Amino acid sequence: MRLSGQLVPFTSLLFLYCSLTVSALKTGDWKTCSQSAFCRRGRALAGRAKEAGANWKSPYAIEPTSVVVAADEAAFSAAVKSSIYPDITFKLDLQVLDDGVVRVRMDEVDGLRQRYNEASNWALNSEPSVSKQIEWTVGKGDVRAVYGAKKDISVVVNFSPLKITLLRGGKEEIVLNGEGLLHLEHFRNKAEPPPAPTEVPEEGLDGEEEAQQVMEVNSASSWFEGEPDGYWEESFLSWTDKKPKGPESLSLDINFPRHGHVYGIPQHATGLSLPTTTGEDSFFDEPYRLFNADVFEYLASSPMSLYGSIPLMYAHSASSTVGVFHVVGSESWIDVAHPKDGSTNTHWVSESGILDTFLLPGPTPEDVFAQYARLTGTPVLPAHWALGYHQCRWNYVSSDDVRSVQQRFDEEDFPVDVFWLDIEYSEEHKYFIWDKKNFPDPVDMTQDVEKIARKMVVIIDPHLKRTQDYPVYKEASELGILVKPSSGEGEYEGWCWSGSSSWVDFFNPGSWDWWKKLFKTTPQENGFSWIDSTESVGIWNDMNEPSVFNGPEISMPRDNVHYGGWEHRDVHNINGMLFSNQTWQALLARSNPPKRPFVLTRSFFAGSQRFGAMWTGDNMGTWEHMAVGIKMVLANNLGGMSFSGSDVGGFFGNPEPEMLVRWYEVGAFGPFFRAHAHIDTKRREPYLLDEPYKSIIRDVLRLRYKLLPMWYTAFRETSVTGIPILRPQFVMFPKDEAGFAIDDQYYIGSSGLLVKPVTEKGATEATVYLGEKQAYYDYFTSHIHRGNQKNITVKAELHQIPLFIRGGSIIPTRERPRRSSPLMKMDPFTLRVALDDQRKARGELYLDDGETFAHEQGNFVWREFKAEASKKGKGITLSSLDLAAARPSDAVDGKALSEYRGTNDFAASVSPVKVERIVVLGLGGKPTSVSTDSGAPLEWDYYDGVAAVGKKEGVASILTIKNPGVSVSSDWNIVIE
Ligand code: GLC
Repeated sequence: MRLSGQLVPFTSLLFLYCSLTVSALKTGDWKTCSQSAFCRRGRALAGRAKEAGANWKSPYAIEPTSVVVAADEAAFSAAVKSSIYPDITFKLDLQVLDDGVVRVRMDEVDGLRQRYNEASNWALNSEPSVSKQIEWTVGKGDVRAVYGAKKDISVVVNFSPLKITLLRGGKEEIVLNGEGLLHLEHFRNKAEPPPAPTEVPEEGLDGEEEAQQVMEVNSASSWFEGEPDGYWEESFLSWTDKKPKGPESLSLDINFPRHGHVYGIPQHATGLSLPTTTGEDSFFDEPYRLFNADVFEYLASSPMSLYGSIPLMYAHSASSTVGVFHVVGSESWIDVAHPKDGSTNTHWVSESGILDTFLLPGPTPEDVFAQYARLTGTPVLPAHWALGYHQCRWNYVSSDDVRSVQQRFDEEDFPVDVFWLDIEYSEEHKYFIWDKKNFPDPVDMTQDVEKIARKMVVIIDPHLKRTQDYPVYKEASELGILVKPSSGEGEYEGWCWSGSSSWVDFFNPGSWDWWKKLFKTTPQENGFSWIDSTESVGIWNDMNEPSVFNGPEISMPRDNVHYGGWEHRDVHNINGMLFSNQTWQALLARSNPPKRPFVLTRSFFAGSQRFGAMWTGDNMGTWEHMAVGIKMVLANNLGGMSFSGSDVGGFFGNPEPEMLVRWYEVGAFGPFFRAHAHIDTKRREPYLLDEPYKSIIRDVLRLRYKLLPMWYTAFRETSVTGIPILRPQFVMFPKDEAGFAIDDQYYIGSSGLLVKPVTEKGATEATVYLGEKQAYYDYFTSHIHRGNQKNITVKAELHQIPLFIRGGSIIPTRERPRRSSPLMKMDPFTLRVALDDQRKARGELYLDDGETFAHEQGNFVWREFKAEASKKGKGITLSSLDLAAARPSDAVDGKALSEYRGTNDFAASVSPVKVERIVVLGLGGKPTSVSTDSGAPLEWDYYDGVAAVGKKEGVASILTIKNPGVSVSSDWNIVIE
């Protein structure tokens, strides 16, 4: 039943792919480590090292006379030799960047061929700035640099064996090649013999020399064993990978001696704190695999690779957070072990590429996120509408279908911002070309959606149907910009939705302007453009791993050839990012002035956050998938991909109403909120449900819309700082060990909202861990809970979402139900002020026009709301302050702030927008007066409940100030005495 073999007819391939079998995943379609020669070699190397124990010694060493420190002291380089292959030379170079990040690179010098060295060109946002403050000290056996504001960071490179260590306060934080597993397989000729057999020690040496030689011999003889394994050819199922370049894999051990938890390397369906893959009692037997793959019906707990790969790992303990970004675009496998409590060893093996590794010194979670964001960029600020609810299925089958779904949403009062069209809109899956039988009026249909301030998103996949009557394929073919087969000549042909297809090679700069032209909505002189579209349509890029139904592991043969002569194996994990990158650029170029593009991608790599959103692919309608989806979205957030979500409802299957409701409750608290379903599933738009399910989902959708100001403010923050939107416990409380493995609850941005979505069937209660001695207010009942590093139990019936406001936070909301988010632009705000135990609180609100780039010219409103002791001392003053004016140098996006004027056009346009209600929680005593600072009394009422101060639990006191008359975009004070 697998999709292997080139001879299976396309119709049956399609049938197999589409057919909804809730059978177990066909794991056999993807390799295990033992079925991948380079992974086998890497693991065997680690096995031999383990067996050799103390006798194991890395053969790699720096030649001391070769060390060169750059004239400006910013970097040093050295020649490295391996005693196993003395004729081969490698060059190592190290740089310390301005923010203390260490870049380590190693490549073969004058090898038979060039290793792939362009991964960083695609991943990095710009060339990192190398510090000029560093002084390298070259000693007899090492080179070192000491730096940092407190001069507490050092990087030490030992010559023999080669070892690179990052230390803080004299303690080892990150160690490269400490286990001696570094190995860059050099390029060789097929005829080259394996390394010379080892020799027996000569007689007559003195004891010490002999011991040394025995050790070297032992390590050399154990370094290689048996015949070269899979060097020149490798088969998997019916495919054979002719490896014309031979072996070129890269192995490296990276240890974190002081860190017991590692996170990251998305994407895998696993817990957030990565379980072990080797060592005694390992949780998984396979390493984590990074190889972008279309794994349908994936397992809910597995280290198998999925659609995207970010080779970034964080290591964390109560003492610090550090990170490693290993920029490799080829397939990689990563073993994780905890040899002792409180330490982690990892082993990374990649199929090809140079060694290019960044060590992120932290020491806090915020620091490592910022260090990574400085390298690869922050998530782009999306259009505001993209944070609303998205309604998708495979497929809305006609223009009338789209119109009637929209009508039902309106009749039933469900807010929604976006309707999506999957592949069946297109004629024979020739993307851009409408199936005019069912979609006779695409522009009218799109405009009908846009009339209610909504948007359409339409899918464009990367496979082009190979037929001359498809202008997109024909033009690409004539331009010679399609991926080539292994011969390097002609066009690679494979099978996907559109039957016999070819793929645009987005690594070829010749494709870039052409791709932009396709998205123009006016006729173009030089060929096809999408005049059947509008300038507001968003794009969904799917199948970009790339998925090839009749290819090895449902993807492209690794020896296919891309621009520059690189093999597909070199760029496989980067491939998907280039597609969404170019689509993003095309949408940017589509209108003048440009609007913020919306692009959703399935496949991604480090840096994809610069081009929009991702989702976790074809999940299943099971409770396990719902639960693991949260962990995956958290891991993607840590990897920079904050704008992420899972298919609400589950892609495969027909969720029962209870499950669907819970899935909406999960989705509403994810950054990207879209319901989607497989073509074989029953319709499940929320209006189709019976009561009470229908009303619960309506309330959930409304809650999402009420909280949009909070979400948008959080998106804006990540777009300037890189700190993820969803923040698990270890990010918020980096010293609280009990929280390090918690991955089923999280905080949203800096808002102070904590959510624990329920993912268990039949649940009526939930336990929530509270990591501090602080009042946590139930969002709905205002009940104060206090956990102080303990679990609390709360009610969680189907209509109840465990959602809390951390004491000390102010949450801005807009409470009027609207049909779509742009219709809320002039709606008034509510501020929920949740006092902390010092009777203080603060919060932020960011607003801009939500769709253009005018915010980059300073057109926005960025406010800080505060509650603090009033001047008279006993009461509280609430205030609103212009944050951009108050903290001009505070944000990373200095440009927007330097152009900022309090009276900018956008601020002027929302000056009539008022705060209509302020709810102060936890005051703990009825006020005698509530007035503006000029003394004008305000209307209020008060419920006498529990105070934020003290140890009590129960419903908080609630002061509601009605229509205070203040504008959301101007400075004001309100005094509560
Ligand atoms: C892939 C996508 C899925 C989409 C389908 C048809 O399976 O992951 O979301 O509906 O293709 O385009």
